[in-house]
Amino acid sequence: MTKPPSLQRLTQRPAWKDLAAHCDEVRNLHLRTLFADDPGRGERLTLTAVDLFLDYSKNRVSDQTLDLLLRLAKASDLEGRIEAMFRGERINATEGRSVMHVALRAPKGSTMLVDGQNVVPEVQAVLEKMTGFSMRIRSGQWKGHTGKPIRNVVNIGIGGSDLGPVMAYDALMHYSERGLTFRFVSNLDGSDFVEATRDLDPAETLFIVASKTFSTLETMTNAQSARDWLVSGLGGDDRAVASHFVAVSTNAEKVSAFGIDTANMFGFWDWVGGRYSMDSAIGLSTMLAVGPEHFRSLLQGFHRMDEHFRTAPFSKNMPVLMGLLSIWNNNFLGAQTVAVLPYEQYLKRFPAYLQQLTMESNGKRVTLDGRPVDHQTSPIYWGEPGTNGQHSFYQLIHQGTRLIPCDFIAFDHALGPLGRHHDLLLANVFAQAGALAFGKTAEEVKAEGTPDSLVPHRVFEGNRPSNVILADRLTPEVLGQLIALYEHIVFVQGAIWNIDSFDQWGVELGKALAQRIIPELEDGTGPLDHDSSTNNLIRRYRRSKGRRGSRIPISPPDGETP
Ligand code: F6P
Repeated sequence: MTKPPSLQRLTQRPAWKDLAAHCDEVRNLHLRTLFADDPGRGERLTLTAVDLFLDYSKNRVSDQTLDLLLRLAKASDLEGRIEAMFRGERINATEGRSVMHVALRAPKGSTMLVDGQNVVPEVQAVLEKMTGFSMRIRSGQWKGHTGKPIRNVVNIGIGGSDLGPVMAYDALMHYSERGLTFRFVSNLDGSDFVEATRDLDPAETLFIVASKTFSTLETMTNAQSARDWLVSGLGGDDRAVASHFVAVSTNAEKVSAFGIDTANMFGFWDWVGGRYSMDSAIGLSTMLAVGPEHFRSLLQGFHRMDEHFRTAPFSKNMPVLMGLLSIWNNNFLGAQTVAVLPYEQYLKRFPAYLQQLTMESNGKRVTLDGRPVDHQTSPIYWGEPGTNGQHSFYQLIHQGTRLIPCDFIAFDHALGPLGRHHDLLLANVFAQAGALAFGKTAEEVKAEGTPDSLVPHRVFEGNRPSNVILADRLTPEVLGQLIALYEHIVFVQGAIWNIDSFDQWGVELGKALAQRIIPELEDGTGPLDHDSSTNNLIRRYRRSKGRRGSRIPISPPDGETP
């Protein structure tokens, strides 16, 4: 008896098996052949979604592959899953939460329900509060404790409370208020805080403590150091905190316990995952940098891509196609990573941002119902801006033994045009995608007069897949579209793999263990009952710390009980 599709292992489902059989047939099909057989391929396998143009022709797919992938999406009820998200269902099953980041960018007056409540008015109210605050800071109306206007903004947060704001600040720097200095502190390593604040005047500095839970070790430790730095820099007066600290959180109680007036708190909700929160109040630093209007354009970009994702037929749906292509490359062609290569310096932190979005979401090993998956899940996302990467790791992408699908991202216009730079930059994007796809045969290499001994070294196999994403220029609205595109690619992958893309239990174990070790290091004494390696590392650290002249006594050498 065949099992109902929901209980069938993914790899046992007919749509998956058909793809596997098809993959065996076409595995060695070369992009050179695919292009030679279809002169219109480079125009046909393209797609426009809102303001983004995608050329996906350089993927190792035939029309049949695409049909089979679309069948897989249908068999996985992708459509139903998308609707469930937009309807506010608790699709984050292990945390029992709705996943409604799409409501953060829903237009004023629209309706998005969570537990039967329209959340759009609350979202808009927070946006209004952010707007009022941003205008007061940007105009100099908001004064610090000594009466000076704010000139420096330091965002303290980590993970989703840092990576989005950092990335957006860099991405939208062209549109930012240059009279304000922005710094971002995330790492528990004190050097991060020290370097970020060493040249700042406390009297002109505002700290945004951004933490969904307001209990994250890194953020609370940095926030405490910020408070000490500020108060001691302003003559020891605790009242200074009121005009130099604001909070972004879902946890009013903890914000208040830290000493920040909840009037200066910008809220969000448990239906916004940390890595999906940069367009919530977590984007306060972004709004301060670029102003409320540009922030609204960013939200509009997100929303327009949401609508595309929700309504476009799958065969013309950019997140769906890119999600399916990544599954083809990852699960069938065996690629283990995806390189994201923005040919736009302002997007230099985009790959780092995507790492949390993609890997914290889909780095999972069990299905929604808790059974081990029998296939790979998230590939490793990584990357660097072009052209820098070309002089570093592209060698491996072109001639190494691994298959690395690439997403190239570029713009028709530079934000800071400079002589020939932009034409040269774009020539490189197009050249790289072409070289990866078509390579250079031994015959071509020989025909250039290359000595026989060097021929193998100078051959480029080609057949390396890539997507090219183009837009007119990097605006706040286009940035919103680009981020929403990847958010929804992650959704598509998670839906096909039948995993919970919205929890992150994998970060818990290390956190809990660190809590146990902290007193063992701070105290410097006491018995240790970890594994022998951890015990030894702790003892070594205790000895070294003692030698640095700390008050902590030197513990006995390895092997002896302290
Ligand atoms: O890394 C785990 C995590 O929970 C992320 O999902 C989140 O973005 C980050 O920590 C920061 O959490 P918070 O905003 O609650 O400080």
